Amino acid sequence: MLSHEDNELLTRVEGPAPMGAYLREYWTPAVRSERLIADGAPVKVRLFGENFVAFRATDGNVGFLDEACPHRGASLALARNEDCALRCIYHGWKIDVSGTVVEVPSEPAERLEDMAQKISVRYFPSREAGGVVWVYLGLHDEPPPFPRFPFADVPAAHVRSLAAETHCNWLQAVEGTLDSSHVSILHQSWLGQSSGSLGETAEDSAPRYESDETGYGIRFAAIRHADADRMHVRVTEFVMPWTAYIPTGDEDRIAIIGTPIDDEHSRQWFIRWNDDHPLTEDTDTHFWYHDLTVAPDDFAALTRGKDNWGQDRALMSDGHFSGFNNLVLEDVAIQESQGSIVDRSREKLGTSDIAVVKTRRLLLNSVRSHTQDGEVFGQDDPLARPGSAGVAMTLEQTDDWRGAASTEARYV
Ligand code: FES
Ligand SMILES: [Fe+2]
Repeated sequence: MLSHEDNELLTRVEGPAPMGAYLREYWTPAVRSERLIADGAPVKVRLFGENFVAFRATDGNVGFLDEACPHRGASLALARNEDCALRCIYHGWKIDVSGTVVEVPSEPAERLEDMAQKISVRYFPSREAGGVVWVYLGLHDEPPPFPRFPFADVPAAHVRSLAAETHCNWLQAVEGTLDSSHVSILHQSWLGQSSGSLGETAEDSAPRYESDETGYGIRFAAIRHADADRMHVRVTEFVMPWTAYIPTGDEDRIAIIGTPIDDEHSRQWFIRWNDDHPLTEDTDTHFWYHDLTVAPDDFAALTRGKDNWGQDRALMSDGHFSGFNNLVLEDVAIQESQGSIVDRSREKLGTSDIAVVKTRRLLLNSVRSHTQDGEVFGQDDPLARPGSAGVAMTLEQTDDWRGAASTEARYV
């Protein structure tokens, strides 16, 4: 349970909210790279309650700017994208990827130089990794080092990124990924389809947790009895401030990132990759993923306009536990059903919620440190390579297994 004040501090991100200022200091996934085509349509992106526009210039470089034209505020999402710049279609002002005003055809030619120097268009640094454009929205002139994501170095065919725009606060999205105990309950009807060890989570719905704090977050081991002699260990790695590397139950790996669109909406990224070979479409290893690719920029839209997010009671009568025809849409429905910003002062938490509790504590400590002295958790070690875990395994049960669980995961 949290105080109302702490819940507000954790969840609010718009305007001057301390959490928004803190989160903006991290590289933020913004838009799928594929959506940006050289000289193609600009794309609106809303983050932290602000509206931006992303585009790919003629030379392939990405521009990320405020959406409003600096002249009189027309949307640059309507702009022409040509000659390495956006040209506003209202009066033709032209702005390049660095935010420089390079043409003002509505003014006498001799004024261009003067105006270009005086008018600042907010421009934000961007990078591409994992099929996603990442942007730095923080206050510093120099962005922090780009993280060493484990999916950043694999060939394009080995990685696929999807997004969902959920109608709830960003922290509900993050907490859903860290809560291992719900897997055995909410997702139980899918577990038998896993080609890997995910099915073993069905045997024990009350995991015990171990955790290690790392330089960049927390590693959680959810430990279940698999049978009389063995235990099932599911290791999730949380990387501050919003990324979870979770065990998929098959040989692919996945990072789930919950970012704020605004206080009451979040964009969740699912970045799936395989270190050794290209991802495949029609294998059972993707049983909880492939249906979503029809709406890669917002698969939560598949639930919109439907009663109870499309829950199918007939399916439940036939034996399906939740009545949702996709594992990830089960999560979307649940997170949105908690409300725009869940009131954490009314919760009744148990031992299975320990991962959520520890993560909240770390976030609260970190946002306070940032407010007080500008510190950004995890950014003092640019060589750290988060995401080494996100594994599940079954171990022989021995007398000293407790410490072994999370320690062994570190080296998998
Ligand atoms: S509003 Fe964009 S050029 Fe006038
Ligand atoms: Fe889930």
